Amino acid sequence: MKVLVTGGAGYIGSHTVVELLNQNYEVIIVDNFSNSKKSVLNSIREITGKDFKFYELDLRDKETLKKVFVENEIECVIHFAGLKAVGESVKEPLVYYDNNLMSTVTLLEVMKEYGCKKIVFSSSATVYGNPKVLPITEEASLSTTNPYGTTKLMIEMILSDLYKADNDFGITVLRYFNPIGAHSSGFIGEDPNGIPNNLMPYIVKVASGELPILSVFGNDYDTHDGTGVRDYIHVVDLAKGHIKAIEHLSKGINYYNLGTGTGYSVLDIINAFEGVNGVRVNYKIVDRRPGDIATCYADASKALNELGWAASLGIEDMCKDSYNYVLNNKNN
Ligand code: NAD
Ligand code: WQD
Repeated sequence: MKVLVTGGAGYIGSHTVVELLNQNYEVIIVDNFSNSKKSVLNSIREITGKDFKFYELDLRDKETLKKVFVENEIECVIHFAGLKAVGESVKEPLVYYDNNLMSTVTLLEVMKEYGCKKIVFSSSATVYGNPKVLPITEEASLSTTNPYGTTKLMIEMILSDLYKADNDFGITVLRYFNPIGAHSSGFIGEDPNGIPNNLMPYIVKVASGELPILSVFGNDYDTHDGTGVRDYIHVVDLAKGHIKAIEHLSKGINYYNLGTGTGYSVLDIINAFEGVNGVRVNYKIVDRRPGDIATCYADASKALNELGWAASLGIEDMCKDSYNYVLNNKNN
């Protein structure tokens, strides 16, 4: 099967392309490298020993996107492309609405024009806002707290309306919890530009000496040690969830949480990271980060029951592989 992967040079996209190639899918990547590097493409080839087609383009460029569909008989799309920095989205909401919404609408228009009606979409646990009930099921109420999250919820609504209008579409919405980790080869991983916003990229930079100290945002939450609790999931497990999603993709619209079902606090992560990697992570407790919630973890049973998918890698693997990637790529 020919699968178009938008944002395939990015963090989750690149790991998913590796799994697709390992399963002998034919892959076509489109990316504009707004948040990724071209060298990732060679790293994917090195890991898999396989090749794929690649187009450098912005998804909002409809005419060029049409060419991709003319030149390839695309049967299914996995749509990762988008901007994802919460803080930046608060400062530049129009950039986020333009990039994330316009690229998705353009993609869907072109898919419809060329009769491609299967799509897997990267949504996020951010659509659950501040959850009232834990663990979070797919039935939980939806709300958002920042423009990035709102783009995800709006795209979910666009997909729902599209399905209502055209029941031939097969749409799977995957709501990721907190992806961390990297491929065990150390060739691909998460490589944010500048000072990281997210916990694990920050921890690895402190551990490797690139940044002096981690700020732990608050220790007065109602959690077992007062620090925020999240459902961290290894990016390779997440990538494998996409293979299961396309294997099960049929007409209809379905929503799945991709998480482990287990919550770890910030201090749990620091301890696990120090233990498995044998390094110190200097940290200090500071005020809460505005907009943060205390606890978020998934009920991942729907994905298990309907897709036959469950995460298998643990927190030690996540911490080990995150650090291994950064040590491997320190001079790049
Ligand atoms: P990423 O930034 O590493 O990858 C996104 C890729 O899309 C990048 O390579 C970027 O260059 C590309 N891109 C962005 N806008 C584009 C456009 N207009 N045209 C073409 N390419 C474009 O991010 P990621 O962590 O791999 O996330 C992938 C998807 O998963 C995103 O949609 C993100 O919102 C979603 N998601 C991520 C997380 C997370 O914590 N990483 C959690 C939940 C959901
Ligand atoms: C995790 C925990 C922080 C950094 C974000 C997005 C969400 C989704 C995943 C895309 C929290 C604490 C963090 C630091 C800290 N992305 N922390 N010091 O906020 O759960 O989710 O990424 O969809 O939309 O909001 O992830 O890694 O930023 O934070 O103490 O320097 O680590 O307070 O408790 P978050 P995160």
